[in-house]
Amino acid sequence: MSEIEKALDIAGKLMANTTEDGRKKLKIINRIERKEIVNPCLVTITDPHSAIAEEYRRFKSILIRETKTDFHNTIMITSAIDNEGKSNTSVNLAVSIAHDIDHSVILVDADLRKPTLHKYLGIEYKYGLSEYLSRDIDISDIIIKTGIGNLVFIPAGNQVENPVELLSSQKMQSLIKEFKQKYMDRYIIIDTPPILPFAEGITIASYVDGIVFVIREAHAQKKTIEEALHMIKASNILGVVYNDASAGSFHTPYYRYGYKYTGYNRDAKE
Ligand SMILES: Nc1ncnc2c1ncn2[C@@H]1O[C@H](COP(=O)(O)OP(=O)(O)OP(=O)(O)O)[C@@H](O)[C@H]1O
Ligand SMILES: [Mg+2]
Repeated sequence: MSEIEKALDIAGKLMANTTEDGRKKLKIINRIERKEIVNPCLVTITDPHSAIAEEYRRFKSILIRETKTDFHNTIMITSAIDNEGKSNTSVNLAVSIAHDIDHSVILVDADLRKPTLHKYLGIEYKYGLSEYLSRDIDISDIIIKTGIGNLVFIPAGNQVENPVELLSSQKMQSLIKEFKQKYMDRYIIIDTPPILPFAEGITIASYVDGIVFVIREAHAQKKTIEEALHMIKASNILGVVYNDASAGSFHTPYYRYGYKYTGYNRDAKE
């Protein structure tokens, strides 16, 4: 069993649904392979027929299937530490959903410390989320049409000294609530900073419907992943994206369970 599998095994015992053998497993909802691409961030656009783009579409289908009935449409993407592929996952997931005729997407860059999504999308902006939350500007001033399917984008904005306060504010929570309630077919995908070094992730986790946790192969230590999962265990983890996977990894039952996951939190409350 690899380090990552051991981490998931332990995390699974803590969190996910009980399986037929009575143990608990965290469900891997998708596994994104490592691939050299010209623009690694937007493979769903630059190389839409590739296997990796297909993985993102599969990821999208699973997520929609599992969240639609309960209208769980506000979803944050996070990870234990930095550089695991959160932004990459956020933008490709958002693009995949936005290509659906039936759905629209608001992609929110809530990583006010290290915003990157605007670079991935090639967008320059004047105002973003940080200005909306700290000043008296209209929401229409920060929503940018991307021209990619039904995708609109809210950039992070300029750097601020109090990202935690802004992202935990009533104004931010009302914004997400309003987005959630306005359109039944709309997904709100929120890119966030990593859980362990910063407090924002925990805060945002408390007001979204679901969390997608990204783990990059051979990146974070097992203990580190466990620690982060412990910290958000009260929240609704939809599943894990196993990112940058080498060919041949994950021949274990985790992958077998990969496509039938349930929000563990609903079960935990029962
Ligand atoms: N599956 C992958 N294949 C190739 N490159 C990848 C993959 N996933 C991520 N990367 C690259 O790794 C780098 C980090 O990815 P990304 O910015 O998505 O991570 P992050 O978790 O958002 O980081 P941070 O915590 O700093 O915000 C980027 O250059 C990205 O293009
Ligand atoms: Mg990022």
